[in-house]
Amino acid sequence: MENKKIALGCDHGGFNYKNKIIKYLEDKGYETIDVGTYTQESCDYPEIAHKVAKLVATKEAEKGILICGSGIGMSIAANKTKGIRAALCTETTSARLSREHNNSNILCMGERLIGETMALEIVETWLNTEFSGGRHQHRIDLIE
Ligand code: RB5
Repeated sequence: MENKKIALGCDHGGFNYKNKIIKYLEDKGYETIDVGTYTQESCDYPEIAHKVAKLVATKEAEKGILICGSGIGMSIAANKTKGIRAALCTETTSARLSREHNNSNILCMGERLIGETMALEIVETWLNTEFSGGRHQHRIDLIE
C-alpha cells in the first residue's frame, strides 16, 4: 500500500507553525511524523532538514514539510539530498506550480514571513495538487 505519511520538521523559528500544521493535518486524517524540534530553544535547521529529507528520499514518508524563520535555510539544506525537490513557497500559486511542474516532495515555509492562514492554505493547496507529468517529467529527469 502507498505510504501517505507526512514528515514535518522545524527549527526554533518555525516551532509554532509546525505544531499548528501537525494539528491541522491530523484533524484531516493525515498520519504525521514529527522529527522536531520539540522546544523553542535555538537549534540548527540543517539537522532537521536532513532528517525530513531522508524520510522522504527513502519513502518512509510520502512528503515532507519544513518550517524555519524564512524557509530559506530549510530549502537549501533539504535540496542537498538526492531525490529531494524542496520548494520554498510564500503563496498558493507557487505551491500549486511546485507540485504540477516540479513534483516537489518537500514544502518549505518561513514562519517569520507569512501569516498563519496563508501557511495553512499553502499546505492545503500543496497536498491536494497532483504532478502533471508529461514534459515536466523529462525536465525532472534532467535535474537528477
Ligand atoms: C534562525 O534564526 C533562522 O536563521 C532560521 O530559522 C532560518 O530562517 C534560516 O534560514
